[in-house]
Amino acid sequence: MAIREIITVPDARLKQVSKPVEGGVTDEIRALMDDMLETMYDAPGIGLAAIQVGVPLRVIVMDLQENEEKNPRFFVNPEILPLTEDTAPYEEGCLSVPDVFDEVERPTECRVRCLDYDGNEVEEVAKDLFAVCIQHEMDHLEGTLFIDHLSRLKRQRAVDKVKKAKRLKEKNAA
Ligand code: NI
Repeated sequence: MAIREIITVPDARLKQVSKPVEGGVTDEIRALMDDMLETMYDAPGIGLAAIQVGVPLRVIVMDLQENEEKNPRFFVNPEILPLTEDTAPYEEGCLSVPDVFDEVERPTECRVRCLDYDGNEVEEVAKDLFAVCIQHEMDHLEGTLFIDHLSRLKRQRAVDKVKKAKRLKEKNAA
């Protein structure tokens, strides 16, 4: 396993639509998921889409650490279907938009269908934080970031903040 670099806004790769994994869950895909999980734990974060490490494939890893225990989840070629018209706001953040947090309104419950780590087809109902997180990560597969759900002004401020922090970090490293 290896920690990979997480790309941040305004990197154009984050706008890409990710492609389905063809030919099932191979050892290569499992190695990618292992790296993604390690990268996510190191960050630390609770969800990561492959495009955030520059790989445009429909792969997501997640660990909501319920009861403060590790509970990694893997999603290959996920599909989601909202199960309710009820929506709720939740304060989201993203490893590709570090240190920016804002409320996004999303359906509170959805069905998730995908291949798991072993390549089995699985289906489950996501609620609460799981529902928020899987919808946030699904957005990444379509090239959408949580800040794209905010006003243009807030989005611009977020991008400027990340650019400025990155410049400062590079200057301090020089
Ligand atoms: Ni994100």
